[in-house]
Amino acid sequence: MSTLAAVLEKFDASKAKVRKEIREGFFNTDGSLAITEDELRAWIADRAVDELKVVMQLSAVLTKAAHHLPARMLVQVTEQVSDEARHFDILRGLVPAHLQAMVDAKVAELPAKLAQDTSWASLMVSVEAGNPFAALLDINIVHEGYSAAAIEELADIPFDDIRQAYAGIGADEEKHHESGRELLEWLARASTADQLTHQVVAGAHERAGGGAMSWSWPAADTAAIVEGAHERAAGGAMSWSWPAAK
Ligand SMILES: [Fe+2]
Ligand SMILES: [Fe+2]
Repeated sequence: MSTLAAVLEKFDASKAKVRKEIREGFFNTDGSLAITEDELRAWIADRAVDELKVVMQLSAVLTKAAHHLPARMLVQVTEQVSDEARHFDILRGLVPAHLQAMVDAKVAELPAKLAQDTSWASLMVSVEAGNPFAALLDINIVHEGYSAAAIEELADIPFDDIRQAYAGIGADEEKHHESGRELLEWLARASTADQLTHQVVAGAHERAGGGAMSWSWPAADTAAIVEGAHERAAGGAMSWSWPAAK
């Protein structure tokens, strides 16, 4: 369990970098907004698409492997699908009509994009082989952890509608991230007896992927999700976090 603690500690350190990049990208040193409202809402439009992507990914995991999940975890994951769908609706509602049209166009492309995503495909191979845990850890430790950290930094954004929306969403994302940690701890306990779950936690350093802080999925062909996760924050690309270039 000390290894697990070390893994999570590294991940927490990487979240600090996410916070810093959001802070420096969105705010001036005096706390005022460093980007325009239009840029901010364009960024939110892309986050709405991300929410629906998670809905699709979790749904795919459930479709293929709900029967492999412990009952308690199944409750968490199915509730999370509902939460993410609500986030999609809320965030889409924060952007003007022309950006909603952009959201809808990107949403229409999501099935094809996921089908072309080799990292997600490799996670789905594991799901179909009866191991849904790598995919769930990647979503709930990595994606949700960074998401929760980013949202914390937006707590003082000077627009009431956005601030209130993110207050609710942030609480949900923190809950999802906690369920990921719970899953990881469960896997760590089970790993001595179960080779399949052992795979998930061991070899975590094998994670591939360029380290770019994007919402894209790691190229890992194993269930090695968490131990390398802190390296993701080191790449600095942060493509998900910046408002669309003008
Ligand atoms: Fe969400
Ligand atoms: Fe979430």
